Amino acid sequence: MAEKHFKYIILGGGVAAGYAAREFDKQGVKPGELAIISKEAVAPYERPALSKGYLFPEGTARLPGFHVCVGSGGERLAPEWYKEKGIELILSTEIVKADLSSKSLSSAAGELFKYDILIIATGSTVIRLTDFGVQGADAKNIFYLREIDDADKLVEAIKAKKNGKAVIVGGGYIGLELSAALKINNLDVTMVYPEPWCMPRLFTADIAKFYEGYYANKGIKIVKGTVAVGFSTNDNGEVKEVHLKDGRVLEADIVVVGVGGRPLTALFKGQLAEEKGGIKTDGFFKTSVPDVYAVGDTATFPLKLYGELRRVEHVDHARKSAEQAVKAIKANEEGKSVEEYDYLPYFYSRAFDLSWQFYGDNVGDAVTFGDSDPASAQHKFGSYWIKDGKVVGAFLESGTPEENKAIAKVARVQPPAESLDQLSKEGLAFASKI
Ligand code: FDA
Ligand code: NAD
Repeated sequence: MAEKHFKYIILGGGVAAGYAAREFDKQGVKPGELAIISKEAVAPYERPALSKGYLFPEGTARLPGFHVCVGSGGERLAPEWYKEKGIELILSTEIVKADLSSKSLSSAAGELFKYDILIIATGSTVIRLTDFGVQGADAKNIFYLREIDDADKLVEAIKAKKNGKAVIVGGGYIGLELSAALKINNLDVTMVYPEPWCMPRLFTADIAKFYEGYYANKGIKIVKGTVAVGFSTNDNGEVKEVHLKDGRVLEADIVVVGVGGRPLTALFKGQLAEEKGGIKTDGFFKTSVPDVYAVGDTATFPLKLYGELRRVEHVDHARKSAEQAVKAIKANEEGKSVEEYDYLPYFYSRAFDLSWQFYGDNVGDAVTFGDSDPASAQHKFGSYWIKDGKVVGAFLESGTPEENKAIAKVARVQPPAESLDQLSKEGLAFASKI
């Protein structure tokens, strides 16, 4: 059996892996010391592009255009960069067994990789309707979106089913971004989700009302309060109809499912401590096993600002946690230490000509300000969340970079607020003076 040894192995070749590689380079890594092992066939890229520019009919994003670290304004790490630095990119290689006691990873093809230090960066996988036994959910043209291969299959189907009907199952991030992308591709789009409004994990009813109204004005139909319970197919095995729990039947040439993700931690079951569905780490992304770190979607880490352990499935944290882990590893080697991770949650999304940002925590009472009329040309509005008399979270649609910076500061500083009414009246002016 082929065996290779590296001082550092990053398992997973996504966002966190790419940002970790850049940080290793900054901190100093010798040729041959670092390897990235990924089941994907391409070098780390900015995953958010897959549900946005990658699907646009014009100005389409394609690799190498969106390799990391362009998403945060950095230099693009194309495959040649890794070669130049002597960082080994071991692609199209799925690790099927991890033995942390012997510090070894085994691939599906039978290779053995040994490490001194391991960074787990396996990210998440999609939850599938077949996981719930939904009848007919394995039909052709039912798509999920996680990796570039998934996006390529969807792009082919969009071409093949020109001007056809699309049903989007799920009202979260994927649901909202994919409905917009398919509408821009001239498909007739219907969204289906069980909750009373979209993105209920983050949006208040008021926020959601704007997006639902805006999508309706774009011609997207929304079916709420029900779920897909079955699919029927044509003679080619392609999806033809979506059967809903409330008895309705929707025609469909393409179905996209976005019903949530789950972190890929199964390789390590029973070998390290877990918490809240992820791998438990400290503020340096060290796991319960020496020399093993976990970053990005897989890590459940101490969110210092709120004094609790959390897992975050967003790109900003993937980037920053990867950098923090590498800084901690390198400092440790020199007998030094780094500051504990002190993360301010930051989520964003873009669809059509909309773009929102959210910082902080969406707990307590919420108040909306600004122009949230979906028909208005300006549609600049936001929300603050107040808990125990302090503003702990802020959301803004169509903010300028300065305004987004201002709401981020509010969420970090947590200024006291006199009343919800006052905040609603002041709106962005409140953030600007913090
Ligand atoms: P990531 O998923 O990026 O990488 C994991 C890597 O590990 C993959 O390459 C995978 O193939 C590999 N892997 C897993 N198991 C393996 C094994 N056993 N062997 C070998 N390789 C293995 N967030 C945000 O804030 N704003 C946004 O707009 C978006 N948009 C967005 C769009 C789409 C389509 C998705 C799927 C996700 C987003 N996100 C997002 C979320 C964001 O992309 C996500 O949080 C980060 O990619 C997480 O980075 P990681 O490196 O942890 O995992
Ligand atoms: P999500 O958790 O955002 O949304 C899941 C949605 O699925 C729920 O809101 C609900 O409406 C719906 N749902 C649940 N069960 C259902 C069922 N049986 N039938 C129909 N609908 C059902 O997850 P997602 O949108 O699938 O996103 C997957 C991952 O990708 C997440 O980690 C997310 O953070 C990430 N992502 C992030 C962004 C972003 O940050 N802009 C964009 C795309 C994807």
